[in-house]
Amino acid sequence: MVRAWYMDNNDADQRLEHHRQPPKFVSLDHLFTATGVEYFKINHLDYGTDTILKNLREKRGYTYEDEITCSKECLQNYEEKLKNFFTEHLHTDEEIRLVLDGSGYFDVRDENDEWIRIEVKAGDLIIIPSGIYHRFTLDSNNYIKAKRYFVGEPIWLPYNRPADKMECRQQYLKRLQKGFEVMTSL
Ligand code: LAC
Ligand code: NI
Repeated sequence: MVRAWYMDNNDADQRLEHHRQPPKFVSLDHLFTATGVEYFKINHLDYGTDTILKNLREKRGYTYEDEITCSKECLQNYEEKLKNFFTEHLHTDEEIRLVLDGSGYFDVRDENDEWIRIEVKAGDLIIIPSGIYHRFTLDSNNYIKAKRYFVGEPIWLPYNRPADKMECRQQYLKRLQKGFEVMTSL
């Protein structure tokens, strides 16, 4: 079961699990309502035959995929990349990640601009909407291997906060205000 919880605005140690005692956990339903972030459980050991993943890719047109490993050994410019990942930013497109091995934390802002920390492990697929402020960090294991999906040619460019005037940000805020729609066909 994937877990998510509210965290304080205290960045003293980004790899810390809980910044608040006791932790205030968040359900997946709340996560979706408050942020539009979607979650799917995938069989990561045989993701090629996983029907949930197959459906997602077909219905949403994820034509591109690759694999990324974040560890000191495998990632070029490791320190700099991780620093950039943890700088609050947004993208013009969805960020889709399926964890194959290892673990990490995605932090996303809720409707009140509070951080929700999402713990991801093998088999967790999350979709971070375009236009939402977010960031990523490894946890104390310092290792994650994940698949990335994309509609068409990938654009990984982050726009650091503030990026409030961007079209994707405005669209996101509209969706947030209206309430996010569940894809019932999946
Ligand atoms: C990214 C994540 C780390 O932009 O937010 O790739
Ligand atoms: Ni990002």
